[in-house]
Amino acid sequence: MSMKRTKIKDLIEHGELNAKVLVKGWVRTFRSNRFIQINDGSTINNIQAVVDFEKFDETELRRITSGACLQIEGKLTESMGKGQRVEIQTEKFEILGDSHPDEYPLQPKKHSMEFLRTIAHLRPRTNTFGAVLRIRHALSFAIHKYFNDKGFVYLHTPIITGSDCEGAGEMFRVTTLDPVKPPLTKDGKVNYSEDFFGRETNLTVSGQLEGELGAMALSDIYTFGPTFRAENSNTPRHLAEFWMIEPEMAFYDLKDNMDLVEDFLKNIVRYILENSAHDIDFLTKMYDQDLKNTLEFVISNDFTRIAYTEAIAILEKSGQKFEYPVSWGVDLQTEHERYLVEKHFRRPVIIIDYPKEIKAFYMKQNADGKTVGAMDVLFPRIGEIIGGSQREENFEKLVNRIKELHLNKEDFWWYLETRRFGTAPHSGFGLGFERMMLFITGMSNIRDVIPFPRTPKNAEF
Ligand code: 4AD
Ligand code: MG
Repeated sequence: MSMKRTKIKDLIEHGELNAKVLVKGWVRTFRSNRFIQINDGSTINNIQAVVDFEKFDETELRRITSGACLQIEGKLTESMGKGQRVEIQTEKFEILGDSHPDEYPLQPKKHSMEFLRTIAHLRPRTNTFGAVLRIRHALSFAIHKYFNDKGFVYLHTPIITGSDCEGAGEMFRVTTLDPVKPPLTKDGKVNYSEDFFGRETNLTVSGQLEGELGAMALSDIYTFGPTFRAENSNTPRHLAEFWMIEPEMAFYDLKDNMDLVEDFLKNIVRYILENSAHDIDFLTKMYDQDLKNTLEFVISNDFTRIAYTEAIAILEKSGQKFEYPVSWGVDLQTEHERYLVEKHFRRPVIIIDYPKEIKAFYMKQNADGKTVGAMDVLFPRIGEIIGGSQREENFEKLVNRIKELHLNKEDFWWYLETRRFGTAPHSGFGLGFERMMLFITGMSNIRDVIPFPRTPKNAEF
């Protein structure tokens, strides 16, 4: 009878001494013809397998090289080495997949993040990406758990849409028309009525509008899916394809929205501290000595809540030289956001009531006629991590805003109907999943917290 394989995490954490075990994984290093460090991705830690080279065929031993895939059978014993509870006394091993030692790009040394991006197909095998990808999984799970525990319904909103939620026009077109000779209308424009969907369609920039339809029936919903932005911003914080979590709640005003967002963010950070401790410790040691403290700080302190007008006053009085000058009406840049969070308040900040001119059409119009019930959450190191608002539930006001902005009212007829049939106050927000990953892992480039980043001129892997 063949043995059952055990994952390395299970062996390290609660493998029984003297038990006969079988592990499978990839060789990290093979030292002195005696110590194999093997990893199967279940944990940041390798397990060490000790081989008595006299018992094995030399040509077989030579095939144990970095990157090779191996299975090892042996006895689990107490380890004499430092920092590991157990090791395996190798009785049998089999090479499942060779790896040419001179050609394998991952040598047992620290590679630069830039280099690792050029081998996105192999970087999951490094300690860093193993940790990041396990945390990415744990964070997704924590988000689903949080909303599930609160009775929110996970709503799957479409990826292909016919409308532009944010009104910024930064969309990727979806079409099956012939790119060289598309059908034309009489006045020489592309005739989208002949396209696959009989209209112009794009990849969604946000699931919010459809999310609102769900909230107007199920009360509390959230989306968690890929979103796309064709903005040509080559920054460490922008991706062309990123994941967004968008809760939408009926009967919530802006205050309720702020209370939820703060509880939500603290809860998922706490989950990671409790459930991804080894990976967080590794990233703290290797990349950012303050990482763990920063995460603990966020869960144990209140977020500051201020109005945009107040934020501008603080920035104007700061005496700082900003690249983008500050005055009432300008959109906040990352440098302004980071000043408020890192220098002035030294904690996460929620800014509300932005000028309507710099925010999307759907936001609740405030009584002052100048501002809207927007809500951005700013985090240390990141700047904006969340954008949200109370939504305008009044049909006339919403239509007026759509007209003012020269948007096409017909495109939104279905959205507007929720304001005609049983409209209700409601609110929501969108968390950029990779921005949150940046914060939690301490990584400094958003390309390093998603397995296969999509950025301008980059979609190879
Ligand atoms: O502020 P945004 O554009 O808001 C919305 O899309 C709303 N519809 C959300 C809502 O109210 N339901 O985007 C929300 C968040 C940002 O705060 C940021 O964290 C992230 O999405 N984000 C990006 N992340 C990575 N790359 C990009 N290009 C991003 N653009 C926005
Ligand atoms: Mg925003």
